[in-house]
Amino acid sequence: MPDILIADDGAIRTIRMNRPEKKNALTLAMYDAMAAEIEGAAARDDLGCLLIAGHAGGFCAGNDIVDFVDMTNIGTLGAPILRFLHALNRSEKPVVAAVAGRAVGVGTTMLMHCDHVVAADDALLSTPFVTLGLVPEAGSSLIAPRLMGHARAFELLVMGRPLTAAAAKDAGLVNTVVPAADLEATALAAAREIATLPPESVAASRRLMRGTVAQIDGRIDAEAEAFRKRLASPEAKAAFAAFLGRKR
Ligand code: COA
Repeated sequence: MPDILIADDGAIRTIRMNRPEKKNALTLAMYDAMAAEIEGAAARDDLGCLLIAGHAGGFCAGNDIVDFVDMTNIGTLGAPILRFLHALNRSEKPVVAAVAGRAVGVGTTMLMHCDHVVAADDALLSTPFVTLGLVPEAGSSLIAPRLMGHARAFELLVMGRPLTAAAAKDAGLVNTVVPAADLEATALAAAREIATLPPESVAASRRLMRGTVAQIDGRIDAEAEAFRKRLASPEAKAAFAAFLGRKR
C-alpha cells in the first residue's frame, strides 16, 4: 500500500497520508507525492477542491525524525519538503483538511495553508519545534501570529503547548469540531460545498484573500535556512536521539 493514497471522486481529490504504523510521519517520498498531486491538480478543470486527510489513529506525526537525522548528516533540508510547502502555499485549488488524533509539526503547520479545517474532537495539534531545538516552518512564523495573535502563536510555536480541537477552533485554525465518527463525512461535505461554487469565482476570491503568497514563499525559504542550521545543533541532535532511543 503506498504511503500516500490519492482518490479523485467527482470534483474532489483526496490526498490521504497512509503510513499509520508510523503515525503518518512524513518521509521525503511522501512530501514529493503530495506535492505532485497538488501541483497536478492545477491543470484539472474538473477538480474543484482538494481534501487532505490522515487516519482515525492520527493525522500526521510531522517530519520523519529518521529523515531529520539523515539531513543533519548531509547538511541540507530535503528538497521535497520545500516542494511540498511551496505547492501547498501556491495551490490554485481550495484545500480542506480532516484532522483526527495527533497533528504534530508540519501536521499542524500545513493546516495554516488550508481554506477549511474540520477536526475530530480527539484532535490534538502541536508544534514542538523549539523543544526539538528547531524553529517554526511552513510559513507558520508569519501565518500563525496573523491568525491568532502573537501571544497565542508564541504559546503554540515556541512554548510547544498543544491545542485541543476546541482551542484550535477558538484560535481560528479549525472551522468545525465534530465527533470522530463524523469527521470524514463532514470534511467531504465541506469540500463538496466548495466544489459546487463557481470555480473561477472561488479561485479569484482565494487569490484576493491570499494576497501574500509571494511573501509566504519567501518566509518558507527563510525559515528553511534557519531550520537547516538548527538541524545540526547539539540540541536538535540530542532531541532526535532521545526520541529514537526511547524505551517503551
Ligand atoms: N518520525 C519517525 N517515527 C515516528 C514519528 C516521527 N515523527 N512519529 C512517530 N513515529 C513512529 C514511532 O517511532 C513508532 O515507531 P515504532 O513502532 O517502530 O517504535 C511509531 O511511529 C508509533 O509511534 P508512537 O510514539 O508509539 O505512537 P504514540 O501514539 O504513542 O504517539 C506521537 C504518537 C505522534 C505523539 C509520537 O509518536 C510523537 O511524539 N512523535 C514525534 C513527533 C515529532 O516530534 N515530530 C517532529 C515535529 S517537527
